[in-house]
Formats: sequence, structure tokens, C-alpha cells
Amino acid sequence: MKHLLSPLDLSVDEIDGLIAVAEDIARSPEKYRHVCDGKKLATCFYEPSTRTRLSFESAMLSLGGSVLGFSSADSSSAAKGESVADTARTIACYADIIAMRHPKEGAPMVASLRSPIPIINAGDGGHQHPTQTLTDLLTIHMEKGHLDNLTIGLCGDLKFGRTVHSLITALSRYPGIRFVLISPDELRVPGFVRDGVLYKNDIPFEEHDSLEAALPKLDILYMTRVQRERFFNEEDYIRLKDRYILTIEKMSLARPEMIVMHPMPRVNEISVEVDDDPRAVYFKQTQYGVYIRMALIMNLLGLEA
Ligand code: NCD
Repeated sequence: MKHLLSPLDLSVDEIDGLIAVAEDIARSPEKYRHVCDGKKLATCFYEPSTRTRLSFESAMLSLGGSVLGFSSADSSSAAKGESVADTARTIACYADIIAMRHPKEGAPMVASLRSPIPIINAGDGGHQHPTQTLTDLLTIHMEKGHLDNLTIGLCGDLKFGRTVHSLITALSRYPGIRFVLISPDELRVPGFVRDGVLYKNDIPFEEHDSLEAALPKLDILYMTRVQRERFFNEEDYIRLKDRYILTIEKMSLARPEMIVMHPMPRVNEISVEVDDDPRAVYFKQTQYGVYIRMALIMNLLGLEA
């Protein structure tokens, strides 16, 4: 049984294959309209979501399949004390594949141990978010044409931001990647990324607390929200939340071909006036998330167009 729990569960070749299918879906969606006829996706979301849950549902519907699920822990039997493992085994009686988001790191992995159907990690606490990473890789490939030889700046909450952890992990397998990590001291990348990915694979990276200083060097700027729900106290959140705000003035420091990405939701970290800059690709990124999730669902169910 194949699950997607970490970005490393897919080889570089498999990711290339998913990107090729997603790009074909973007060009010719009609070819894929019946690939999942009769199949069901369950979305089990124990944490809030707009894009991830609805893009999974939209992806399955666009493939001809159906969707069922819940969008908060208190509307499922988790509220009665059921374990994720039992919930997954139960849902396997009703569906063919599960996308699960959970506030606890490792919960989708625990669910996968006894699950007879594929489990997709749709975000586990402050740990990983592999399908956002597939979305990000597709976005980079669509907008830049390649995934190697890039300088990527990641800015904001690099400590709790699971999309950051997964993106660094996935990109570390491509040649010529350099990271510029932009955050306040308190929100630097955790040890499992610094030691387990960056040092382990000898990936060049620098750390800054100034966005302005980093901007001129970047091919890609990946902005993130400060993850309020993972803070231990509200005062720290309030002190750090507006540390970085990308404005049109700051965009003038960037290269003309730099792209700005964001997994979304945005709070204050990108001014809305930046949306009109052609280098801002975060809403396109949201659209690409549907195509790559269609490709992923087909892959995990062993289906082709
Ligand atoms: C991200 C997440 O849930 O980690 N959102 C998403 O899935 N696109 C980022 C965030 O919530 O800040």
C-alpha cells in the first residue's frame, strides 16, 4: 500500500512524472474527466483548511469521483475519543483513499500503519505538508521551467511552518539549490530540517533576519504566515506577526524575474497591492494545487487517463 506521508515518499522520478501529468491536466482537463469514476475520496480534517481540503475535493470531482468527509475534529468521533488509526480503518469501509490533516505531528503516519487504503498527509501539526510541496514544485516548474539551480528565499515562520519544512526537504534533492532563510531568531528552521536535511545533504544556505538584504539575490521568494495556532503564548505571536511585510517598495529591490510564492492563507505578510505585480504567482499556485492533487490521486490509486 502506497501512502504519501513525507515529501521523500516519492522519488525525484515519480515527482517528475506527477508534474508531467499535472501539466497535461492543465492543458487538456477533458481527458481526465472519468479516470476516477466510481472512486471515493474521504477528507478527514481535524484542523481548519480552505485550500487543501477544497482543492482535494475539487481534484476528485474533476476526475469523475465522489467525496465525503469531515472538516473539524468535533464533528467526528475524535470528539468521543476514537484514535486516528480506528477512524482510518473505519473510513476504509466507505472510501478508496483518505486525505488527512491533523494538529498532531505524525498522526497520518499512525493512521497509515493499519490502513488498507492510501493515506495522504494533508498537513500534520508543525511537521510536514507534502501535497503543498507538490503544488509548490509544480508552480516552480510552470513558472521557471526547472527545479534545479535556483536560489530560494523562505521568509517568516520557518520554525512552525510545515510547508517550509517539506519544501526544503523536497528541493534538497535537486542540484544547484541554495536557500536563504529569512526569519527572526525565534522562528528559525527546527533541528530536523537544519541537521536532518540541510547539513546532512551539504546544501548551501544562509540565515538572515533582513528581508531587504536578501531580496536582490533571490530567484524565488516564498513568504509564509506566522503560525499563531502553534505558539505557546499570544504575546510572542503579537510581537512577531508583522515582522515581515512585502510591499511594492520592497519588490523594487528584487530581480525582474523573481517570483513570489505563498502557500496561503495570507494575513499581513504580503500587501494586497503586490498582487498586481506579475511576479506574484500565489493565486496561480492555488490553481496548480488542484492539478497536482489530481495527478497524485490517480497515481496512488494506480489509475491512468
Ligand atoms: C498552509 C498549512 O496549512 O500549513 N496552508 C495550506 O495548506 N495552503 C500554510 C498556513 O496555514 O500558513
